Amino acid sequence: MKTIIVTGGAGYIGSHTLIELLNKTDYNIVSIDNFSNSAANSYDRVKALTKREFQTINIDLCNENDLRQNLSNVKDILGIIHFAAFKSVPDSMADPVLYYWNNINSLTNLLKYAKEKQIKNFIFSSSCSVYGNADELPVTEETLLKKAESPYGHTKQIGEDIIEFFSKSNPWLNAVILRYFNPVGAHLSGTNGESPINKPNNLVPIITQTAVGKNSLTVFGNDYSTPDGYCVRDYIHVTDIADAHIKAFEYLVKQKNKKKVSLFNLGTGKGVSVLEVIKSFEKVSKTKLNYTVGPRRAGDVVAVYCDNTLARTELGWTPEFDLDNMMLTAWKWQQNLENN
Ligand code: UD1
Repeated sequence: MKTIIVTGGAGYIGSHTLIELLNKTDYNIVSIDNFSNSAANSYDRVKALTKREFQTINIDLCNENDLRQNLSNVKDILGIIHFAAFKSVPDSMADPVLYYWNNINSLTNLLKYAKEKQIKNFIFSSSCSVYGNADELPVTEETLLKKAESPYGHTKQIGEDIIEFFSKSNPWLNAVILRYFNPVGAHLSGTNGESPINKPNNLVPIITQTAVGKNSLTVFGNDYSTPDGYCVRDYIHVTDIADAHIKAFEYLVKQKNKKKVSLFNLGTGKGVSVLEVIKSFEKVSKTKLNYTVGPRRAGDVVAVYCDNTLARTELGWTPEFDLDNMMLTAWKWQQNLENN
């Protein structure tokens, strides 16, 4: 059986994708993670949900020698799904060099490795942050990219360019770039979800932690030029994002791709404000959320949501879960954490 290498497999989207890969395919899976913002018990949750074994390697992808040495026994690699990266907009504003160093070195090392081994299929985690403050919404894959609002977003723009240029001089490579909008929620069982070891910066884990008294939510601005004054995002269930990776991988393996590098937006296509997220959470959790409204956060775009037609038609992907389900599963996961 052929092998898929998943980097960042202990992380939020990575672990949900491991679950889908192990449950829905027969591939041999090798996960690489250095637990920079996750913990090894994430793998235990994946194993409990899939009843399948997979190999795990604890290395920093920025160390090229470690990568080569630790993968020397892994044979028959069909492809790489590359999640491992730093992902916080505010942290990237505070320490840009760290973000450029980590997110770009890990990618270039992996591509060098892919070239050495002639690994033909590559999936890259990009982000809607590449659009910056787009002139027109919804954004399609053809929308002109504006200047990134944060170093995090810029590392994703650069990552996409690296893959495009790499593929021109290495035409054996077939790549899919997936631009995630805002992945939230947890596995439907409530037994796997976002569990950063560092303090979370993302809205939904902060909401659920606030509801159990472990955090306090400050909403970053309600004076934006949006219908209710709050920032607008396209929230998408993490299991829908995970499922898109299975479809994207099969798209490459079955050679359905029309281009060497294919780009897809992964969102529901619906713009939702921070206030609407809070209201949905309050409704499904039957919990009143105490929060304050503070100043805007540096690096935030005002509004972004996508046209997902291309992913629907080309990949045959359909997002299944709505905002209430995203909030309900995130809440189930938080309660699970409280009880264990
Ligand atoms: C960004 C990327 C997204 C990526 C994510 C990874 C954009 C547009 N999106 O999401 O693709 O997956 O980083 O981290 O760049 N908020 C508060 N209070 C808080 C936290 C957040 O009001 O304490 C608000 C933010 O201002 C924003 C919304 O909630 O309007 C979502 O923020 P967050 O969850 O941090 O994600 P983004 O920064 O939008």
